[in-house]
Amino acid sequence: MAVANTSSSSWSSTLLFAIVFLLLVNISVFCNGGKTSTFTRKPEKTEDMPLHSDVFVAPSGYNAPQQVHITQGDDEGKAVIVSWVTMNEPGKSVVHYWREGSPHKKMVAKGYLVTYRFFNYSSGFIHHCTLKDLQFDTKYYYEVGIGHTKRQFWFMTPPEIHPDVPYTFGLIGDLGQTYDSNKTLDHYESNPKKGQAVLFVGDLSYADNYPYHDNNRWDSWARFVERSVAYQPWIWTAGNHELDFAPEIGENEPHKPFTHRYPVPYKASGSTAPFWYSIKRASAHIIVLSSYSAYGKYTPQCEWLEAELPKVDRSKTPWLIVLVHSPWYNSYNYHYMEGETMRVMFEPWFVKYKVDVVFAGHVHAYERTERISNVVNGHCGAVKDQSAPVYITIGDGGNIEGIANNMMEPQPEYSAYREASFGHGIFEIKNRTHAHYSWHRNEDKFSVEADSMWFFNRHWHPLDDSTTTQHH
Ligand SMILES: *[C@@H]1O[C@H](CO)[C@@H](O)[C@H](O)[C@H]1NC(C)=O
Ligand SMILES: *[C@@H]1O[C@H](CO)[C@@H](O)[C@H](O)[C@H]1NC(C)=O
Ligand SMILES: *[C@@H]1O[C@H](CO)[C@@H](O)[C@H](O)[C@H]1NC(C)=O
Ligand SMILES: [Fe+2]
Repeated sequence: MAVANTSSSSWSSTLLFAIVFLLLVNISVFCNGGKTSTFTRKPEKTEDMPLHSDVFVAPSGYNAPQQVHITQGDDEGKAVIVSWVTMNEPGKSVVHYWREGSPHKKMVAKGYLVTYRFFNYSSGFIHHCTLKDLQFDTKYYYEVGIGHTKRQFWFMTPPEIHPDVPYTFGLIGDLGQTYDSNKTLDHYESNPKKGQAVLFVGDLSYADNYPYHDNNRWDSWARFVERSVAYQPWIWTAGNHELDFAPEIGENEPHKPFTHRYPVPYKASGSTAPFWYSIKRASAHIIVLSSYSAYGKYTPQCEWLEAELPKVDRSKTPWLIVLVHSPWYNSYNYHYMEGETMRVMFEPWFVKYKVDVVFAGHVHAYERTERISNVVNGHCGAVKDQSAPVYITIGDGGNIEGIANNMMEPQPEYSAYREASFGHGIFEIKNRTHAHYSWHRNEDKFSVEADSMWFFNRHWHPLDDSTTTQHH
């Protein structure tokens, strides 16, 4: 009896030890994810720059064009949409443009003009003009404000679509117009990697944080970012701060300021609305989705995406990039699971078509995941999946709502790196197999890469690239 008892108790303590051991191993292997950066930014008040700040100064001269911005104007990079605002009178919606070295061969494009009202705000005269049939890889100068005060700018067209052509995209999200926003833009512009176009993941001006959504803050934002977006295209994604849905003041039409001010080439990709569309640029195929338009089964966005993905030709554009405002994987205690229903709808397609990377904003911090998916029937939770994209949340532009610094603990296994700092990203395509990605925090010197990873293309080089990351 005593003997049996002893042996059974030693057996059970061994078992207990084994269980505790397994639990500990289990926690460290399956629950703890990658790195949570201990970097803490200097505590500062996040506030909007006052309207009299240098960045908001309107150009001088009668009816001088202001808020100049460009975006891609077709599906392959041979067209550019130029937009600007005149305040005094309509003026002419005309752009003069010419190739570098051929100032005597000026061409003229004629655009159109829109205005809108929002509660008691009346917009200026908003001009949009598409320059078409441009040559690839060419510097163009352009002039707006024909008739009164002319202003001159320039842009580079992208190289012709080719699987091995290098191209460098900047990544900015949730920018707003605070002193931090200004630092983010400054760091992007001064980054020696020199982004050639910005993939903007939504939430532009945050004008809707003002009483009656004071649309003068849409104007000031556009004057603030002109120093970059007049010279290189920003590819627009609609965020929740683009909704401007305010029935309490009679504004029932969502997206009114955004659609009047920021046209996109959605028809070129067969889309029926400006909130979801695609472009090809250099060696990338970029799909823009809308978290705030219907995406359930049978909706226009869902049908468009279903038809779009099989059209992606990785032999022409190896890099398949998706932009969407609300992240699908997010381990911050902000906007938790807001992207979940869209993930459930679309994630199986992203795995099937081997999307390389998904960039999102919305959460005002930085996070990069492992290659993961959550699409297996009966399995609940994300698992490593080499056919799946990396998900990057880059809603860290520095807007007025402040930093998101409350994280879920322990860090989920899918989360490779996260940090509550403001910054921007650079996605540097080298050729069809390799792209170098880096994230740059505002607190560092311009060239510092706080987080980085070599991306191996999912179609041409689908090896495990998770071991190529570095943090500083
Ligand atoms: C719009 O209405 C608000 C609230 O009544 C007021 O403070 C503001 O000055 C008005 N703006 C214009 C342009 O009338
Ligand atoms: C914004 O940043 C630019 C570039 O660094 C600087 O010249 C300007 O003074 C800044 N403005 C404000 C209001 O911080
Ligand atoms: C693609 O770029 C990577 C990184 O720069 C380089 O190591 C590799 O040799 C390149 N591949 C080809 C075929 O040039
Ligand atoms: Fe947002």
